[in-house]
Amino acid sequence: MLKTKIAVLVSGGGTNLQALIDAQASGIIKSGEITLVISNNPEAYALERAKAAGIAACVISRKLVGSMDAFEQKLCQTLDENSIDLIVLAGFMSILSESFTSRYRGRIINIHPSLIPSFCGKGFYGLRVHEAALERGVKVTGATVHFVNEIPDGGEIIMQKAVAIRKNDTPETLQKRVMQQAEWKILPMAAEKISKLIAKSKERQ
Ligand code: GAR
Repeated sequence: MLKTKIAVLVSGGGTNLQALIDAQASGIIKSGEITLVISNNPEAYALERAKAAGIAACVISRKLVGSMDAFEQKLCQTLDENSIDLIVLAGFMSILSESFTSRYRGRIINIHPSLIPSFCGKGFYGLRVHEAALERGVKVTGATVHFVNEIPDGGEIIMQKAVAIRKNDTPETLQKRVMQQAEWKILPMAAEKISKLIAKSKERQ
């Protein structure tokens, strides 16, 4: 069966990218292949992780191209040139426009560090999500993988995993546990699930 070509979009440390790379090596991801990593931040450590794994990587910076429109145009061009079937947002800290998301309907997935619909949408990203969860005093949080549409964190939910909050949690300890217990597990599983669906539909074409 033809494999689904995956591009992973990153902005920072890239631990979720690493989980995807490891899942590919261990065979959890078998219907897809990560063929490209794109960062919107030239300083992202995720770029080093791609390099170490021998995966092609490039930087598309909104600052350098001038505008969000130009950024998305360059992004589309790069995805097309590489015949990408599935886009995985793994710690990608930029909101994509409706014209972009509608072009790739059902082919963009994102990992978010909470149980959507809690602590999500504009302004909820990275450590801020965990700060908000602790401030609100919830006893359970977690992570969600969902399809990406024009509403930030509003697309159909694919997978979720809950994580218990501990009495002495700080945003940092909670972030680490949510990553270890939830994100690094469900993102590869969801990437495989959607890759398999896309690979099957490629077969039929
Ligand atoms: C992860 O916790 C991811 O879920 C979150 O940023 C972190 C990136 O870490 N993403 C968002 O908040 C998106 N709204 P990583 O670069 O080590 O994967």
